[in-house]
This record gives sequence, structure tokens and C-alpha cells, in this order.
Amino acid sequence: MNILFGADYYPEHWDEERLELDARLMHDMGIDVVRMAEFAWSKLEPENGVFRFDWLDNAINILAKYNIRVVLGTPSAAPPAWIVDEIPDVLPVDSDGRVRGFGGRHHVCQSNESYREYVKRIVTEMAHHYRNNPAVTGWQIDNELGNSHNDLCHCKSCRRRFQKWLESKYKTIDRLNREWGTAFWSQSYNNFEQISTPMITPNSHNPSLLLDWKRFHSDLITEFMQFQVDILREICPNHFITHNLMGFFNLVDYFKLSQNLDFVSHDQYPMGYFDNPQPMKEPSVLAADLDLMRSLKKKTFWIMEQQAGPTGWEILGRTPRPGQLALWTAQSIAHGADTVVFFRWRTCAFGTEEYWHGILPHSGNPGRRYYELQKFIKEIKPFMADFKNSLPESEAAILFSYEQSWAFEIQPHHPDLSYTKQIRKYYKGLYNLNVPVDFISDNDDFTKYKLVIAPLLFMVSDELAKKLSEYVEQGGILVITMRSGVKEMNNRCHIESDLPGRLKVLAGVTVTDYDCLRDQDTGIRYNGRDYRASIWCDVLKSVDAECIGTYTEDYYAGEPAITINRFKKGMVYYIGTEPEQKLIDDFLADIVRKTGIERIYDIPADLEFVRRRTKDADYIFVLNHSGKTQKITCGENWIKLINGENLEPYGYALFKSERGK
Ligand code: GAL
Ligand code: ZN
Repeated sequence: MNILFGADYYPEHWDEERLELDARLMHDMGIDVVRMAEFAWSKLEPENGVFRFDWLDNAINILAKYNIRVVLGTPSAAPPAWIVDEIPDVLPVDSDGRVRGFGGRHHVCQSNESYREYVKRIVTEMAHHYRNNPAVTGWQIDNELGNSHNDLCHCKSCRRRFQKWLESKYKTIDRLNREWGTAFWSQSYNNFEQISTPMITPNSHNPSLLLDWKRFHSDLITEFMQFQVDILREICPNHFITHNLMGFFNLVDYFKLSQNLDFVSHDQYPMGYFDNPQPMKEPSVLAADLDLMRSLKKKTFWIMEQQAGPTGWEILGRTPRPGQLALWTAQSIAHGADTVVFFRWRTCAFGTEEYWHGILPHSGNPGRRYYELQKFIKEIKPFMADFKNSLPESEAAILFSYEQSWAFEIQPHHPDLSYTKQIRKYYKGLYNLNVPVDFISDNDDFTKYKLVIAPLLFMVSDELAKKLSEYVEQGGILVITMRSGVKEMNNRCHIESDLPGRLKVLAGVTVTDYDCLRDQDTGIRYNGRDYRASIWCDVLKSVDAECIGTYTEDYYAGEPAITINRFKKGMVYYIGTEPEQKLIDDFLADIVRKTGIERIYDIPADLEFVRRRTKDADYIFVLNHSGKTQKITCGENWIKLINGENLEPYGYALFKSERGK
């Protein structure tokens, strides 16, 4: 059975008598799967060692009658109050040394060994209980791991674990002292036991310590997940295991976290709510989130939570306009989601999220959102099997690194420098051209791509420099930017050569000076046009490279800002600043044109074009994120599957184009 659409369902919030009606309404809407139980620990184990599965069994049985399958969440995101009674030191400690209280969720230290025993027991019990239930198909571990952890936890157990992690990395304390540069401010350690987690100090911390702390933290979360994966693999070998990720959230290295999952799941919420004015994520930002999720395992994925109504906790967001819920779902599918689960089925009547709206309103009566999604599911379902497992087939990639993003969080240089924001700007340049993009990590194969954009390569190892150089030697086109090659992997400054350090020969330039553009921007002339740039400016001296863009202001007016270096069979561009979006767009348009990188649609149109490519055909999604009617000229041989060249406000269309024709 193909599982295509679902809802996040919380039977523990409602009277049992409602179940049958919910199951019927779901079935009528086209839903074939629910996710349940990820926050239901206190209902599953109301007291220490007392397990109650009857209520969940009952829900599963009723859903199964309507052919609805079940994904179960392991409940470790919300441990019950009795666990805190049993092990008071399970509460997390923040960097101020304050103990965080019970409530909210994730109110526990993930390294606490006694807590691990409780997690092990509940997961084992659930696994045995459901391993042979034919309606249960798979598991989600915990929920959005890392979310709510921020800088947690600094308890004794985490401190000990951090020390052990450091010891296994550095082996001797002398080596750690050298790598971290603890000679500065008399910070040398005599043994690993002296090292603290980065608690609040009178001022700042050693940047090398901070980076290792972020690495440790990411590893701890990954290991906490793996510990549950191992239990489930053993007991339920026929079930899939996944986890719900959060796009560009960066507390955990998602490339590593996703390694041992069967597939990645993602939570997609296009509308924010807390900020004023309300942030509505740009379509290209949503697209980038989805492309990153697909890129982690280079395969299609699930949406485990797709926005299904107005968002809100204490403050509310706007209501999605008619068509938007379907449009966003179509966008998720277009970028590689093979299954979409909506959050949530019915708006809850109590608790922190009573205004985080589901498909059904509080009353439980189907309304606009239910009927919109029902119609959408009905029209797209017949085609989903045709492009299942298919990817876009990208010729362009963006190198994304959690470690670089952490290093810039520790030292952003400029208050407005954001690694992710720059990644998104380059992504948007390709998005605007309708060029499909993959995100790649340092460990991926670069040679598959005609173009690799690697913004802000702050820390560059010998291996990475070699890999980039080999990629270019074989004909690759590489774009690198400001603040590249500045640091060693231990987050100390590179001192062997001028910047861009290990990338100097490849780029064919040296950075002779740099200027952090505080409170002002600067000008650039590129291809005879004037643009603005901000945040930072590398003053470049060309060694082998040709200058293709110059600064137009200040003492470096006339000096190179953008260069190109022909290196063996390939080319390297260096951009010494953060260009305004228009410059990125024009610059990438030139590269795409020159290198013949394929665009899905090359007529100017204010629409998003996304492709899923199978052996025989391209499935082309056209998405209208605007509130206006739009018209397109269809490509040759495009067969209309859903809607057509006239797109309604927030409408979408699906076309098929047979390959080789
Ligand atoms: C997600 C989370 C859900 C729910 C939702 C709305 O981040 O996984 O459990 O909290 O947001 O806030
Ligand atoms: Zn802890």
C-alpha cells in the first residue's frame, strides 16, 4: 500500500467516542497514515513501570478499519513529572548554572544515564508491543531533536561527557592546550577534569572551546537518537525509522544525524507568528529548506508536519489564504516529499498550542481547510506513484557545512553576518533562474556537478583544499567568497600563508587587506553596471586571476572585488564581499549561461518551476506564490496533468514532459 498523505493525531486529547468519526473523516479526505504518541509518555506509562497501551491499541484498531497506517513517535521529547521525581538531576542546567524546570518539553538532560534507562524501557516496551501490529509501519524518534535545547545542558553529567569527548579527540591535555591556544589569558589546563562546559564567564570564551562544544553537543544529540534507533532496529526489523528535522536549523549536524535513518522527515511551516511584523518565509527560503532535506540522504523524504492552518501560541499568525495550504503542499512534493503528513488533525482545546490550528477547527467540524486539502489530495494522488523516489537531477550544488555555520555563530565578525543568510542568497540566485540545486557536504562527491558554490569557507583543511582543487582541475566551476581559508579546523587562524590560505593558488588571488563594513555598505561595478555590497570587503590582489568586478568606493576604489581564475580544465570565481541579491542574480545568470547549466524554464516568469525527473519523464510543477493570476507559455511537449497555463492566485499546475522526445 502506498502511503501518501497523513495527519498528526493526538487521540489522548479527545474522548474515545470521537475516534470513529475522526477515522472516517480522515479516510474521506484521502489520508492513509497518522503519526501518534510522540508526546504521550505520561499516558503510556502513567507511573513508574506501569504500562498502558489499551487506549493506543484502540485508536490503532479503529484507524486500521479505515485503512489508515500508523507511525509511532518514541515519547522521549516529553518525559512525565514522575521521572523528575525519581531523578531530580535529570532537569537540564543552563549556562548560567540555573536548573530549568519541568514543563514545556525537552525538559531533560539527554546525557543523564538514569534517564537513558527510562527511555530504554519505554521504547523497548512499545517496540515489543507493536512489532507485529500490521497497522504500524514505522517510528519517529523523539521530536525535533535539538529544538528547545539551545545551549543546554551544563549539568555534571554533561560536563563529564564533554571532558571524555575531548579526551578521545585530543588524547593528551598538552595537545588540547596547543590546539586551543590556551596560552592566551593563562587558560592552560593540567588535566581534562579541569575543563568546564562554556558556562557564563565574566566575558567571552576561547573560540576553539566553543566550536568543540557545538560539535560535542551535536554528537550528543545524534548519539541520543542512535541509542533509540538501535533498540528499535533489533526488535522491529521490518519497520522504518525516521526523525522530523527542521530545515536549516543548525544545532545538530543533519548530515550526520540522518545517516542511520531510513529516510529523513521534515517539518514545514511557511508562516511564522511571534515576530512583528509577522515573518512569512519567502518561497525561495521554503524551497531551500526542502532541497536541504532531500540532499541529506540524496533521496526523497517525508514531511512529518506540514502547516495546516494558522500558526500561533500566545500570538497568532495570519490565516493561510485560500489555495496556500495546497500550494505549499505541492511545493513540498515538487522538491522531493513522497509523503506529506499535516500538523495537526484537529486544533487542540487546551495547552500551549491551542491556537496552532489543525485541519479541523476546535469544533471538529470540517471547514475550508479540510475541503481544500481534500480536493488537493484527490487531484494529485493519481500521479504520485509515477514520480515516487525521483529527484530533480541538479547540475549545480551549494556546499553547506554545519561546522562553518557554528564557527561564524561564534565569531560573526559583522553583527549582521549570517552564514545561512548568505547560503540562501546564492541559492536564491539559482532559484530565480529555475536551476535545480542540491546541497552537498564536504564528504560528498563534487564531480557530479558542473557548478559548486561554496560560500564562506572559513575553515579549510588540507583535505578540503585538495578536494576542491581536484574538482576544478577536472573541469569544475567553483565559486568561493570572502572569509575563506581564514581558519584551521580547530578554529585558530591560519598562519602559513596570506589569505585565502589553502585556497590561494586555486583562486589566483591574495587578500591584501580587509574591511569590516560597519554601518555602511560599498559599491561594486560588474559588467558595466553598479551594485551595492555590504558586511565585509576583501581587498584583493590578482596573482593569476582576472578581475571581473571592482570596488567603486573608498581607498580601494578600482581594486578587484570579483575575480575569475582559469585553473587546469576548470574555473574559480572569488567574491570578496557580500553582494546585494541583484548582483548575485546577474552574476549567476552569466555563469549559468556560459556553462550551459540546464534551466527548467527560461522565460522570465514570477513563478517557481520545480522538476522531478524519472527515467522516462520530467514532472514539472509550476507554483504561483503570488496573490495574482498568472499565465505561462507551456514548454514544447508539456502534457497538462493538473491545471494548466493559467494559474490562479496561490495556484499550482503539474505538467509532464516525456524524455527523449
Ligand atoms: C513543531 C513541533 C510540533 C508542534 C509544532 C507547532 O515544531 O514538532 O510538536 O509543536 O511545531 O508549534
Ligand atoms: Zn546535562
